[in-house]
Amino acid sequence: MKKITIAIDGFSSCGKSTMAKDLAREIGYIYIDSGAMYRAVTLYCIEQGMFNGKEIDVEGLRREIGNIHISFVLDPATGRPRTQLNGTDVEDRIRTMEVSSRVSIIAAIDFVRAFLVAQQQEMGQAKGIVMDGRDIGTTVFPDAELKIFVTASAEIRAERRYKELMEKGEKADFEEILANVKERDHIDQTRAVSPLRRAEDALVLDNSHLTIAEQKAWLIGQYQKATTEA
Ligand code: DC
Repeated sequence: MKKITIAIDGFSSCGKSTMAKDLAREIGYIYIDSGAMYRAVTLYCIEQGMFNGKEIDVEGLRREIGNIHISFVLDPATGRPRTQLNGTDVEDRIRTMEVSSRVSIIAAIDFVRAFLVAQQQEMGQAKGIVMDGRDIGTTVFPDAELKIFVTASAEIRAERRYKELMEKGEKADFEEILANVKERDHIDQTRAVSPLRRAEDALVLDNSHLTIAEQKAWLIGQYQKATTEA
């Protein structure tokens, strides 16, 4: 069957990654979590002391960006990719609140986006890829055969993230998470470079009240339709 490109965009914490990962595994495609790449750059900046509170040393990062190497290694136990930063596994460290509360600042910097978008486009050259993020259907793969735009209410998304952190045994405060979700929505939608918006030809999926199984069935249906049409 002809391989296609699948772009999944949407708000933070709406389950995009879970659905994209599961879909990729099911259909034998490569899965790339583009948000993990912005998170890895953010972690690098934190570890290099480039943040002063929420202020980033932009010129310092511009000088350093060529030293940031991000890759993904498949975890044989879960079949899911784990993010590596300069050869070190950072999958857990990029999911902390410390990174979550700073990543939008990094994702709004034009040269960071250009640096990561070029790598993402390279990864998708051979098609057979599911990539999730904010600008995949609009900027990274504007010609993707299947584009999905996922939404869910801010409260439901905060609840999901809260449960996720609790399950990992991390400290979590619901109100803080909700504020973070809303703040990120705002920054993601209003930033000057590649703001989060639905591509005109993207299908909208509001999963506020869908189970994972229902969502998966819908997605597989859309994939089958797109491959028949491609
Ligand atoms: O999907 P996520 O929550 O892991 O994304 C982390 C941040 O990176 C989020 O604030 C939006 C940003 N991002 C982006 O600007 N463009 C992408 N393609 C993916 C993520």
